[in-house]
Amino acid sequence: MAKTKIAYFCQSCGFESAKWLGKCPSCQQWNTFVEEILEKTNTSIPNWKSSPAPSQRANKPVQVADITFTEEHRLLTPDKEFNRVLGGGIVAGSLVLIGGEPGIGKSTLMLQLALNMPNIKVLYVSGEESDKQIKMRAERLAPDFGESRIKSQESRGEFGKGCYVLTETSTQNIFKQIEELQPDLVVVDSIQTLYSAHIESTPGSVSQVRECTAELLRFAKESSTPVFLIGHITKDGMIAGPKILEHMVDTVLQFEGDRHHVYRILRTIKNRFGSASELGIYEMLGEGLREVSNPSEILLSQRDEPLSGITISATLEGMRPMLIETQALVSTSAYGTPQRTATGFDTKRMSMLLAVLEKRCGFRLGAKDVFLNITGGIRVEDPAIDLGLAAAIISSHEDIPIPFKTCFAGEIGLSGEIRAVNRVEQRIAEAQKLGFEQIFISKYNMPTAAKDKKRLDLSRYTIDVKPVGRIEEVFGLLFG
Ligand code: TYD
Ligand code: MG
Repeated sequence: MAKTKIAYFCQSCGFESAKWLGKCPSCQQWNTFVEEILEKTNTSIPNWKSSPAPSQRANKPVQVADITFTEEHRLLTPDKEFNRVLGGGIVAGSLVLIGGEPGIGKSTLMLQLALNMPNIKVLYVSGEESDKQIKMRAERLAPDFGESRIKSQESRGEFGKGCYVLTETSTQNIFKQIEELQPDLVVVDSIQTLYSAHIESTPGSVSQVRECTAELLRFAKESSTPVFLIGHITKDGMIAGPKILEHMVDTVLQFEGDRHHVYRILRTIKNRFGSASELGIYEMLGEGLREVSNPSEILLSQRDEPLSGITISATLEGMRPMLIETQALVSTSAYGTPQRTATGFDTKRMSMLLAVLEKRCGFRLGAKDVFLNITGGIRVEDPAIDLGLAAAIISSHEDIPIPFKTCFAGEIGLSGEIRAVNRVEQRIAEAQKLGFEQIFISKYNMPTAAKDKKRLDLSRYTIDVKPVGRIEEVFGLLFG
């Protein structure tokens, strides 16, 4: 019998220690160590094709020039947003982690994907739901589902073909089924429910999550089958289980959004096969997720007359320009301490903007309640939204509406200067495409040398581009 080996793991970052510690030396959290039994590694439980001894497969150094390079094979899904977020389709043998809060729609996203790829075999492994529950969900996601149910069953044709469901939590059993079925794509809902017989501790614990991921990683690389792992997120936004998970997988995607809004965002956090700042937008409908290919149109609300406190900012999420509506409400505080609330925007950054407006422009906002809201329930981190927000705050404070068809793209510095933003050409082009008539940008974005002129050629645009250097200038132009 194998000797029982015990180790202590930090549940927050996965740090391993031989003895119990009160404070984790790695992530500085208190009381996060739990005992886990590591055992059975040398017993005869089948593993994913036990790897050969290291000496047999030692690699030799090669010159870079001698390495033959072939474009990695990518599998295109019918979901264009998903392809783009992954950097152009699913890479063979890649391990992708999809994180998100419970109920945000991770299972829906992956099942919908699995059901809509009739030309390949997809294995959807679920440790969370029974096959009946999955069937019920699949029914909801079926296109053309309505009164003529029986008829549509036949006319559905390709829908759901090639999608196999397995409700199982033991990795050894999963691999057994995989060997039999030989799927082209595997989805695991969720990594926290799996357990490996090689490890004694309970499913969801650090060492189990790590071992199961390692086994799936080995499988993905050796069989060149892409594997998607769904992972839960803890309250503070970390993928539950060790941070180590993020290092092991090739790609980390985050599915986020406000549960009370219909929009969901799929964001790349890490991607070994593409840009890590991509973003896809979906709308959650009664019959599943719908891709939103033109986000600007849905994020701008329809109104007939200009209202105070509302501005449009030209932001960039990943590679994609997006026009976002921001709203501000400034009112006299009823209590001693003014309230400052921001939805979809960093509260600290809002405080900074308010301080700049107070100190540099002389607006007395100290005793005012300020509420900021980014519509559509999305979160914006692009600093180019600063200028639009500041304009919204002042517009609400002075109760003067911003003229129609005006938008903004500029970062505000601590001394009230408008700083340049990246890819300004793309932002201007998007604003023009959506029918805006003027856009305020930083004057530092304007071309100075001839070579810049080629890049930002303003004569190409019909929209009125207004370069500004300081925040007071903007207010002068807007409010007179
Ligand atoms: P789910 O995929 O179960 O979330 P997760 O796997 O991330 O925990 O999403 C469930 C939510 O989505 C639930 O609140 C119902 C809603 N939903 C729809 O609005 N439309 C649909 O077609 C489906 C299947 C779910
Ligand atoms: Mg789920």
